[in-house]
Amino acid sequence: MLVLGIETSCDETSIALVNNNDVILNLVYSQIQTHKKFGGVVPEIAAREHLKKLPILFSQLVKETQIDINEIDGIAVTKGPGLIGALLVGVSFAKGLAIRYNKPLVGVNHIVGHVYANYLAYPELRPPYIVLMVSGGHTLILKVNESMHIKIIGRSVDDAVGEAFDKVARLLGLGYPGGPEIDRISKDGNPKTFGFPRPKMYDPDYDFSFSGLKTSVLYEIKRLKDAGIEELPIKDLAASAQEAMIDVLLHKTTKAAKDFGIENIVLAGGVAANSRLREKLAEYTLEFNFFIPPLEFCSDNAAMIARAGMALLEDGKNDGLGLEPSPNLFE
Ligand code: KG4
Ligand code: ZN
Repeated sequence: MLVLGIETSCDETSIALVNNNDVILNLVYSQIQTHKKFGGVVPEIAAREHLKKLPILFSQLVKETQIDINEIDGIAVTKGPGLIGALLVGVSFAKGLAIRYNKPLVGVNHIVGHVYANYLAYPELRPPYIVLMVSGGHTLILKVNESMHIKIIGRSVDDAVGEAFDKVARLLGLGYPGGPEIDRISKDGNPKTFGFPRPKMYDPDYDFSFSGLKTSVLYEIKRLKDAGIEELPIKDLAASAQEAMIDVLLHKTTKAAKDFGIENIVLAGGVAANSRLREKLAEYTLEFNFFIPPLEFCSDNAAMIARAGMALLEDGKNDGLGLEPSPNLFE
């Protein structure tokens, strides 16, 4: 099945063409440079950028793949969760194409898209499995059962872990997005220097809380400054904060897998790129199999949306022009 995917839920404009589990082309335009100077994603600007870039990426896709759009079996677009203005641009564009080419149109849940991204990288993967979905907007533990039913079993009760990385980075005077910066400088830092709290780590549920970490880092910085330390140990602070977040993520994810008797664990979202997280997985490889899709499919992209939409189209689903964005889907 040949499906065109469109993703505009946050700050990545993406269009992709997917044939079963094969990605023919996945074009991703990251708006990060535009939002950088504001220290975070500005929703209104994101929507305008999508509007500007979508037609350009679509033409590029047609040109590079030399595909006759009349040959596709359907169109899949992210319907939510995400920024309402950004989603609206993608959904409207998809509707335009659905009318123009008279093709079925399905709205895809972005989170479900992240789950299906795995099949692009690991076509042999079979449920059940546990997913740790860690991005700038989401921190979720999902349980995917034998029939691909996806259930959220854990979530952050406050900040997403990517957001926590970004906020701690800002406190340390690092650039945006902060996750990759913290990852980079932590390699030369000592993760044991500061014993930052690991909230909810030993609670019986699978939920997280990350908003307290930035406060702990802030207090530590203040304490160091009050003690007359002029040059802050940025690398140790970053490494210690990173370690606290990763310890909780891994503890809770492996606990979920253990509790449900599931061996396969899948990582998704931008934070899955974290090198310390990947390194620490080694401690658990005797018990679990880990699946980490390449970053191209781990962070936001339209190929995963096309792949998830394919499952809906195969079931004969067609949302047609009645499709509306649902910014708070799954909330
Ligand atoms: O999935 P993603 O690309 O976009 C969405 O948020 O949907 O994730 C972006 C988040 C940002 O918060 C960024 O700081 C974080 O992922 N991130 C990382 C790393 N690379 C990206 N966090 C920790 N370590 C990294 N290497
Ligand atoms: Zn995402």
